[in-house]
Amino acid sequence: MSGTNFLQLHTRDVPRGRRVAWLVSQVRTALREGRVETGTRMPPTRALAEELGVARGTVVEAYRRLTEEGLLTANRGGGTVVSASPAPAATTTGPISPNPGEAGAEPDLLDISTGTPDLSAFPRAAWLRAENTVLSGSGGRALSYAPAQGSYELRTELSSWLARSRGVLASPERIIVTGGVTGALSLLARVLLDRGLGTVAVEDPGAEGNRRILDHWMAGLVPVPVDREGLVVAELAATGTATVLTTPAHQFPTGVVLSPARRRALLAWARERNGLVIEDDYDSEYRYDRRPVRALHGMDPERVAHVSSLSKTLGPGLRIGWLVAPAHLHEDLVRARWATDLGSPVLPQLALAELLRSGALERHLRTMRTRHRRRRDAAVRAVAEHLPDAVVEGVAAGIHLLVLLPGHVDDAELAARARHEGIRVEPLSSMRAAPGPPGVVVSYGTHPPARLASAIAVLGGLVKRS
Ligand SMILES: Cc1ncc(COP(=O)(O)O)c(C=O)c1O
Repeated sequence: MSGTNFLQLHTRDVPRGRRVAWLVSQVRTALREGRVETGTRMPPTRALAEELGVARGTVVEAYRRLTEEGLLTANRGGGTVVSASPAPAATTTGPISPNPGEAGAEPDLLDISTGTPDLSAFPRAAWLRAENTVLSGSGGRALSYAPAQGSYELRTELSSWLARSRGVLASPERIIVTGGVTGALSLLARVLLDRGLGTVAVEDPGAEGNRRILDHWMAGLVPVPVDREGLVVAELAATGTATVLTTPAHQFPTGVVLSPARRRALLAWARERNGLVIEDDYDSEYRYDRRPVRALHGMDPERVAHVSSLSKTLGPGLRIGWLVAPAHLHEDLVRARWATDLGSPVLPQLALAELLRSGALERHLRTMRTRHRRRRDAAVRAVAEHLPDAVVEGVAAGIHLLVLLPGHVDDAELAARARHEGIRVEPLSSMRAAPGPPGVVVSYGTHPPARLASAIAVLGGLVKRS
């Protein structure tokens, strides 16, 4: 099929930050109304993007979400076909589709797309010991209610841990335990929205999961470009929005560190605009070439909401994170958490407090740094061998690499073809609003060096043939 007549689409009046959601819902409606049949080939992403006057990444992302819902399927030849019609009700009014990691989990694929740490290294014995200590000593507290803000023991341990490791100075009273970074973002979004602050600037390219959560709650997202120095603050200032989500210690996905001049400019913007910087400090425990830069929060705690989680250190399934917000937001955030679900499960919070207290978490992190650094080195070597024209971006940190590909490569197609070869990899274009060079994000945390090398060799073969 060529052209998009069957979709009857018009981009008029759709703000940039909402175009993916808009396109998804338009395609769903076209399918539900029977304007397009199962087996129909969807227009190529580039053609549809041109026709609609949107970034190609917008179409790629919309197709990806529809594929996750089972409505579209990637073809062997790299195209996309309609595979089902949505059920008449519920699918459009129900919750957002599940997170990409879960929805995309296909056991037969070698998955280098999800930024998960090496879960086989989870400190099982130490965790079980900690739970045992808690259960035998807490007099039942671990099984009862705790403050919605989080258990006091955990907030006390986090207070000294954050000061030591990240330069975040916050008393236990000012720390909120959350359901990961995601939980912190949705609390912030709801409180900001209540105050009439409905838009948020996000990095472009940026973390797609965070964007989807904010897109769910907020009225609009405003993409702001990222360059070699991180977020382009001058462009942020031009957007008129008063809130920005950023990853200053290790930008996702480019891997660059926000430069000192940009850090100062960002905080100056926040003061002048009376704005808020949401600092996503998601993987700052892993810096392999030097000590990690300190958190932005330390430079202006009343302008920065600091968020992070255990997802890159112990495992995302624990759903434990934390938020330290400016004083004027704190009470409302705690209240929003209380009104949502009375807070996070207590036993894991107390077990984590015990791991922090005993030093077991710090020991675990030392092991993980060595292991992940070896995996990163192996991935970088494999890129040099199998993708000689590609460039690895960013500093030696975290658990992912951005690999920029030669300009003629279509990264979305490459990812689709890689899937047929048994490799799941995320194209850079799916993380962008504006067009830019092609690339793939290689998440190396869960794979031993040999497996990483074989996945990258497959990508190398596909690029050679493209
Ligand atoms: C940039 C970024 N922030 C945060 C997270 C973690 O989110 P959560 O703590 O909700 O698991 C991820 C996970 O992949 C991420 O890529």
